[in-house]
Amino acid sequence: MTTVSLLDPAAFDMPRDVLWLSHCKDGPLPRASADAVQALMGVQLRPWELRWEQDFLDVQRRLRHAAATLLAADAADISLMTCTSSGLEAVAFGYPWQAGDEILIPAGEFPSNRLPWLALSRRGVQCREIDLWQPGQRPTARDAPEDRLIEAITPRTRMIAASWVRFQDGIKLDLQKLGTACRGAGVDLVVDAIQGAGTTTLELTGVSALATGGHKGLLGLQGQGFLWTEPGFRQKLVPLGTWLSGPEEFSQTSDPAPAADLWATDGRRLEAGSPSILSCEALASSLQLLLDCGGVAAIQAHVASLQRQLLEQLALGDGTWRAEAARLMALLKQDRLGPTLCFALPEERLARLLATAEAQGIHSSVRLGYLRVALHCWHDAEDVRRCAAWLLGTLD
Ligand SMILES: Cc1ncc(COP(=O)(O)O)c(C=O)c1O
Repeated sequence: MTTVSLLDPAAFDMPRDVLWLSHCKDGPLPRASADAVQALMGVQLRPWELRWEQDFLDVQRRLRHAAATLLAADAADISLMTCTSSGLEAVAFGYPWQAGDEILIPAGEFPSNRLPWLALSRRGVQCREIDLWQPGQRPTARDAPEDRLIEAITPRTRMIAASWVRFQDGIKLDLQKLGTACRGAGVDLVVDAIQGAGTTTLELTGVSALATGGHKGLLGLQGQGFLWTEPGFRQKLVPLGTWLSGPEEFSQTSDPAPAADLWATDGRRLEAGSPSILSCEALASSLQLLLDCGGVAAIQAHVASLQRQLLEQLALGDGTWRAEAARLMALLKQDRLGPTLCFALPEERLARLLATAEAQGIHSSVRLGYLRVALHCWHDAEDVRRCAAWLLGTLD
């Protein structure tokens, strides 16, 4: 195997004996981002040296710009948010709901894409949770989970909110198919993108809003993410922005121009006041690193190649591994996977694997009966070989 990493692992503070397969839980912060934060922290220690433009506004501009480049979107449509939940809340609480409206979400969503919608019951809005698979059924390449959501649309449906890549089984929903159906039915499609952002390409046509935290595949710190909104959709939302969300960027040296609208029309319209500038700096630096190592399309191709290699090696294992490798390989060929391979394994095998992983410096995670192996741009063919040897119990 010759697949070399896209990003030198030395970009992280990761000893060679640590194999981090868990960016679906937490991405590692690159050294360059930690250095950038440290430099900005140095300025915070000496506020008389702090420059409003360079050390505050420019950091946010760089982050909006990098986020937009990563999504192949317009920087004006990015709102800086602390996390996925705050992006989804800006939509949930800003949308002009009428009593009797309904929103559809897949059953089994991560709570960030469930609780804001359930909270709307106080306003007479019903959140219906739709099974995309029969309970207990493992996703296969033959399934069309989007159809379950599309079939559930009624004249009362205003919105569908779904994870793009699912946290438990790693399945990627077809946003174009969902978006086209939603548009046709006058329904807004809202996306929780955290499990695919940074590793998976995306087409935003048909999507009304997309929220992500920055601390997984985007390699930022906890507490900094962003929201993308389609401009027409954004104008429908109650502007939640505060003093930094005026039509003109706030200047410390001149009076704001009188404006007909109190809020900006761009993404700042939805932003809270002063952001955590250190977290913005970290995420801006991490996104730039991802762009510099080839961007999302290159990362996706790299990850898919490693996933294929891992599944080929696991197909040489016992019946359970052969079945899971075949199921996931078919899903991979159908472009149904994000960066995380999720293996459905018996309970006792999951427990045994997690115990041996720890002893071998391998870090993975289990959710709802699935063992999650998340690959990214710094992994290479040797990491895959080591992972396969761990899973098959043949590690030397
Ligand atoms: C699908 C999904 N959405 C959201 C989150 C995290 O939400 P937040 O960014 O609000 O902390 C996770 C974390 O595991 C997740 O898996």
